[in-house]
Amino acid sequence: MPGFGNDFETEALPGALPQGMNSPQKCAYGLYGEQLSGTAFTAPAHQNERTWCYRIRPSVKHTGRFSRIDVPYWKSAPHVDPDVASLGQYRWDPIPHSEEDLTWVTGMRTMTTAGDVYTQVGMAAHVYLVTTSMEDEYFYSADSELLVVPQEGRLRFSTELGVIELEPKEIAILPRGLVYRVELLDGPARGFVCENYGQKFELPGRGPIGANCMANSRDFKSPVAAFEDRTARSRVVIKWQGQFHETFIDHSPLDVVAWHGNYAPVKYDLRNYCPIGAILFDHPDPSIFTVLTAPSGVPGTANIDFVLFRERWMTMEDTFRPPWYHKNVMSELMGNIYGEYDAKPQGFVPGGMSLHNMMLPHGPDNDAFEKATFSELAPQKLDNTMSFMFETRFPQHLTGFAANEAPIQDEYIDCWDSLESHFDGTPEGKWDK
Ligand SMILES: [Fe+2]
Repeated sequence: MPGFGNDFETEALPGALPQGMNSPQKCAYGLYGEQLSGTAFTAPAHQNERTWCYRIRPSVKHTGRFSRIDVPYWKSAPHVDPDVASLGQYRWDPIPHSEEDLTWVTGMRTMTTAGDVYTQVGMAAHVYLVTTSMEDEYFYSADSELLVVPQEGRLRFSTELGVIELEPKEIAILPRGLVYRVELLDGPARGFVCENYGQKFELPGRGPIGANCMANSRDFKSPVAAFEDRTARSRVVIKWQGQFHETFIDHSPLDVVAWHGNYAPVKYDLRNYCPIGAILFDHPDPSIFTVLTAPSGVPGTANIDFVLFRERWMTMEDTFRPPWYHKNVMSELMGNIYGEYDAKPQGFVPGGMSLHNMMLPHGPDNDAFEKATFSELAPQKLDNTMSFMFETRFPQHLTGFAANEAPIQDEYIDCWDSLESHFDGTPEGKWDK
């Protein structure tokens, strides 16, 4: 069903959805009515999100007593490892797949955390390495919504509100509190997750751009209702305040036969993203490529921006075309989905990541600088490229995994070594060429 944040209605059996009201005395098919609130009851109308579910059993039957469990590689903010220096420009090769059986939960590898899960601000950046499907096992995060960015392999998310199949070049959002199971369609699967502790992702305002381009609402798709009426001993794992808990039940919790509302999982094909850019000279700030933004309390200062660098034409005259050198109050974690990134032709490879933390300078390496300085400025298509950025107002802290176990590129910092001074006091400058 199309439309970002639309008010949907869907039923897997005819007549399962009550019309004109939410709580009939007796629901059709003997279902239970239940509301899932994604915002406070009293949130302003344009932000208020909730979904009414008509299900075989109410959710209280989908949990029992909880026991704490360890999920050692999934960290939550604040997580500041005293032995790790987060100050530095960092880059990683793709994290290799494991021989182990890893599910969506046990295969999550936290790279950075930012903010504070207890007060619901900030985020965590993860890489998932999934080698096995969840079987009679379900998960939900009470802490966060998850933005999923696959890089390799396809996954199926069977959720309470329907099924989403996801492949590289697509993204999905799994709302806070939504129960689901993750299966491998062809594996192994690797990708990135932005765990948003704060206010939900929304489409950015376009300002003078107007009503079209960038990410268009209609290209976001939510699933139709799909339910399981299945008896089997099942395990539900819950992330709550950075801690993991398990509970056992004797049936599938994915038993919502019909639902209506605007709090739902959603997927989006990044190939539908329509980039906007400069058409004469210079180029705008990278915020022009924002797909989704999760606001913080400070206007225009996002808890998280999800930013996409995809194929596009470069046509600017007399302009240094790659991303310029800069220092940023925001902190930038990038990942490469496929192809080559224009600021650094080598080293930032598909599946790889980089981190440029708050107020740390970065920019093109010497090769990219020289190429951009001396090349003929004909219109040029940047092809075969798709990278993204999780950008947050909060500094990102590396985990011990990111610093010590993940394939960090120790020599990354050297990529700016061969940049030289071209200043000799003359307006022409000093160039070898
Ligand atoms: Fe940057």
